[in-house]
Amino acid sequence: MENVERTFLMIKPDGVCRGLIGEVIRRIERKGLKIVAMKMIRVSVTQAEKQYEEHKGKPFYEGLINYITSAPVVVMVVEGKNAVKVVRKLIGATNPADADFGTIRGDFALEIGRNIVHASDSVESAEREIKIYFTNEEILSYERTDDKWLYE
Ligand code: RTP
Ligand code: MG
Repeated sequence: MENVERTFLMIKPDGVCRGLIGEVIRRIERKGLKIVAMKMIRVSVTQAEKQYEEHKGKPFYEGLINYITSAPVVVMVVEGKNAVKVVRKLIGATNPADADFGTIRGDFALEIGRNIVHASDSVESAEREIKIYFTNEEILSYERTDDKWLYE
């Protein structure tokens, strides 16, 4: 199969504390994407700084680190054809005010600083981010019964 990718997805503290874990997972699953690793954790400051190193020094950086470490999150590795692009489309634009309805951010959030989910923006970012939160052993391989209908 071509273009099978892995991406990293996080349900941020607001998503967890607003009871939206199931809502996010439902959208991933029904699209046909495969969750190959998942856990609930409290993000450490070290992990948060690694994840968001590209934003260091920006005005929102400190608030972002505080937000992401403020309550539990759910982290997962999601696999499928063009997974990086597809998951970015499912979550919608960074600012929920610009995110299309039908996307997670478009349907459930109002502010850029409380936008429910994170997903990798490239295959390279995904590889880097997955390593911050998962060991190779935690990433599992299995078949979905509908794989044969999802893929030609
Ligand atoms: P993420 O990394 O969380 O998936 O979001 P993204 O790629 O769509 O957006 P990015 O530019 O990477 O920004 C990372 C997160 O920082 C917060 N942010 N706040 N107040 C602001 O102007 C601002 N800009 C960014 C958001 O929580 C965003 O998701
Ligand atoms: Mg980003």
